[in-house]
This record gives sequence, C-alpha cells and structure tokens, in this order.
Amino acid sequence: MSKKYQVVKGFRDILPPESKLFWLAEKLARDLFARFGYQEILLPVLESYDLFACSIGTGTDIVEKEMFIVPDKKGQNLVLRPEATASVVRAYVEGLASQGPAKLFYFGPMFRYERPQKGRYRQFWQIGAEAIGYGGPGVDAELILLLDLYFKDLGLAEIQIRINNLGCKICRPSYREALVKYLTDNEAGLCEDCRRRLSTNPLRVLDCKNEACKTIAQSAPCPGEFLCVDCASHFEGLQRLLNLQKVSFQVDPRLVRGLDYYTRTVFEFQAQTGLGAQNAVVGGGRYDGLVEEMGGNPAPAIGFALGVERLALLLEQKISRSELVAGPEVFLIFSGEEAYRFAFQLLFLLRASGLYAEMAIDEPSRSLRSQLKFSDRIKSKSALIIGEDELKNKLLNLKLMESGKELKLEYQGLKNLANIDWEELKSHLQTPGFAYAGREYEQTLVQNRDLLKLLKIYFNELNKLEA
Ligand code: HAM
Repeated sequence: MSKKYQVVKGFRDILPPESKLFWLAEKLARDLFARFGYQEILLPVLESYDLFACSIGTGTDIVEKEMFIVPDKKGQNLVLRPEATASVVRAYVEGLASQGPAKLFYFGPMFRYERPQKGRYRQFWQIGAEAIGYGGPGVDAELILLLDLYFKDLGLAEIQIRINNLGCKICRPSYREALVKYLTDNEAGLCEDCRRRLSTNPLRVLDCKNEACKTIAQSAPCPGEFLCVDCASHFEGLQRLLNLQKVSFQVDPRLVRGLDYYTRTVFEFQAQTGLGAQNAVVGGGRYDGLVEEMGGNPAPAIGFALGVERLALLLEQKISRSELVAGPEVFLIFSGEEAYRFAFQLLFLLRASGLYAEMAIDEPSRSLRSQLKFSDRIKSKSALIIGEDELKNKLLNLKLMESGKELKLEYQGLKNLANIDWEELKSHLQTPGFAYAGREYEQTLVQNRDLLKLLKIYFNELNKLEA
C-alpha cells in the first residue's frame, strides 16, 4: 500500500463545514471594513528576519522562540510572518506613506512555533486592521466599536472588552524603572523565564501564566499610575467615546501585550467561556513610534488582529452543523436519457440565474430511488422530478423535502403561475378571488421566492421542447 501522509504538527486542514465559519467571518469583516473605510492590503507571507526582530522586539517570545526561519539560497534569513502589523508598516513606508494616512485591513495565515493546544496552532489565520497616521482617541474607539459590532452581528455578545494604556516614550521609562525595582525586590519568587525577562522585557512578567509570578504581578506597579498628562487625557478621551456609544468595557490596569511596539492604548476581546486558557480572540493597540522606527516619517498608528480559529471555536457553539451545510434549493431528478439531457440543460440555467441547484450529473442511468436518497443526504430543499410524462405533458412535479408536500400541476396551472410575478402573487394572497393554481401552492411560492423563479425557468424550458 502507498504511504499515507499526515499534516505537519501544529498545522491544520480547515475542512468543510468549519471552512464555512472562516468564510462567514471573512465575509462579515469585509462588509464592516468597507463601511468603516478600511481598504484591503495583500501582503507576502515571507518577510526578512530583521523586520520582526526590530518591530516586535528581540526580547519577546515570538522573536526569541517562535519564528519559522527559512534561509534563502543566498544564506539570508527569511521568516514566515508571525503577525502582520510589521508587514503593514513596512508596506506603508515603502508604498503608501506619500498619500498620507491609511486605513487598511488584511486576512491571512500567520506562523508561530508555539506548543499546540486548543486555540493555539503553529499556522493560524488572522483578520486584522491598521489605521496609520491617526493619533487621537477617536480612531481607537472606532476600531473597538467595529469589533463590538462584528461580535454582536455574529451573535457573540458576551465577549469582554478590556483596555489599558501603557504610556508613551515620555512616561514609560519611569514606569519601567519602578517595575524593574519591584520585580528585582521579588526576583527570588519569579520563574526562570521571568528572571530573564527582568532585563529584556519586564512588562511581560505581568503576563506570565506561572502561579508564583501571577501572585507577584498582582502587587506590581501598573502603567496607569505613571501616565503623563497627554497619555492620561488620551485614555480618558477613549473611555468617554466608548461610553458615548454605550459599549461596555473594563479598564484592566494589568493588561500588557506580548509585542514591544505598543504605546498608549492596548486592548483585548476575551471570551468568558469556550476557549480555555487561550481566551483572547482579539489583541490590539497603538504603536505610535513604529512607523518612524521603520524608516518612515513619524506617524501614530493603531490596529488589531482577530484569531479566526478562536472565533470559529466560539461560533461552532452557536451555529449548528445543519445550518452550516445548506443544501441546494433544488435537486433535479431525471428518469431516462431524454430527461437527463433536459435536466442537464436546466441545471446550468438555474445556476446562472443565481439558484443553488444539483443533480446526479455523473450518472445518467442512476435510479430514481437512489437520486432521491442522494438529494436527501445533501439536504436539498426541493426535488424536481423530470420523467417522460412530465416532459411529454409539460407538468410540474416538485417535492418539498422539509414539509413532504408535493406540488403537482397540469400545464395550465403551471402556466398561470409562471406568468405572474412574486409581488403580484403576494398581494393576490391577501385578497379573496381568482386562484392562479390554488392557495396552498401560492402560499408556498410566496414564502420561497426562489421556487417561483425555478418554476418560471422550468416552464420556459418545457415550452422549448418540440411537441
Ligand atoms: P497577537 O495578540 O499576537 O497580536 O495576536 C492576535 C490574535 O491572534 C490573538 O488574540 C489570537 O486570537 C490570535 N492568535 C495569536 N497566536 C495564535 C496561535 N498560535 N494560534 C491561534 N491563534 C493565535 C498580534 O498579532 C498583533 N499584530 C495585533 C495588532 C495589530 N496590534 C496592532 N495591530
């Protein structure tokens, strides 16, 4: 037997129907981004090693341990991007900065060599947005409101918004100094990683999952106690705007983020249940110094990234499998060679008109029973039976799968219905009088507009047949 291959550890195939959740997430994001004035940026997956070392920071977990490094043929180190903010800033400085501020979004896979677990993978998808050239708290609020709307539209209203302000290059040094002093006084109780972080990235100690470090972190000084006047007023401005929109959020004075570029506002959207330890669905914040650090003219900026796998885990609990696997509007069931040819032509006309239609296209001699079974299995909403009699006498024989109802019409009844439009049929239903083909038929067709469309196309095709 030939060898079977397996997906690489930490990587996943996103199979249907889960892929439909990704599609839903992307579709809604695109719709919202357009309404909020964000334009799409398509970025390469490979970038230079230095891009991330300089932006995310050499002392961070991502740069220290988690990058997938790909040496190229000249010995230069490229990396599979672990995130996209640095790439967006690089692309902005390279190609967009001359046009002024930019509001951008992206969708794509990121790569981090982390220990895989639920909600944490080595390749994962992010939907992200970055607003470059915007300094005031208005755009911070805009991004948080966009996400709030996004989660509400997806029926995930119970996600908690946490915000904090990490200060800027003016006030951060005094905070860092106080933090390092406190942590040095408590160094003996810290884990090995945090003792190292003390000199490289002390803020990360506040984010450590080790119980002893957590206890020490609880009494550590917070950035909020050291904010300069400008940072404090920026943070108040953001909270005022969020309150104006009646968005509920929590100020979390201990919220820090795992990347070095952040200044001022940082935020996370956290799920209260369903994700276990990896409960941050979105992470974001300001990075007012990064554009300049990466060779551009100074430009404040802010953005976020949403983890699509984590979102899909939450959506799975809300959306049933049957809702995800929507069957065709109609399944064409043929009997005999002529009916197969007729159905084959009708199939593409229906699809071209916008309907989701299916048939057993690869098996012209498949039995009626097995076609009906197949139609049931793929959850077709209706089955149009096309046999000798239907073609010869131009009849309608439509089975509605959910109710089990059958719509059977002679030529005249079919013609009556095929010649009226949906609005007319709807208004007709409210007034007593002439029936086109019977109340029950009309009610069904008013409830499902696509069925009337199907019936019209079918009738047209029947009429093209030679008598
Ligand atoms: P991040 O917090 O590293 O921020 O990632 C953002 C989100 O990506 C997380 O909240 C999580 O949902 C998802 N995520 C991260 N790592 C993994 C993983 N290993 N497996 C599955 N999902 C994961 C950033 O990436 C920043 N670039 C966000 C940002 C944009 N800040 C400003 N602009």
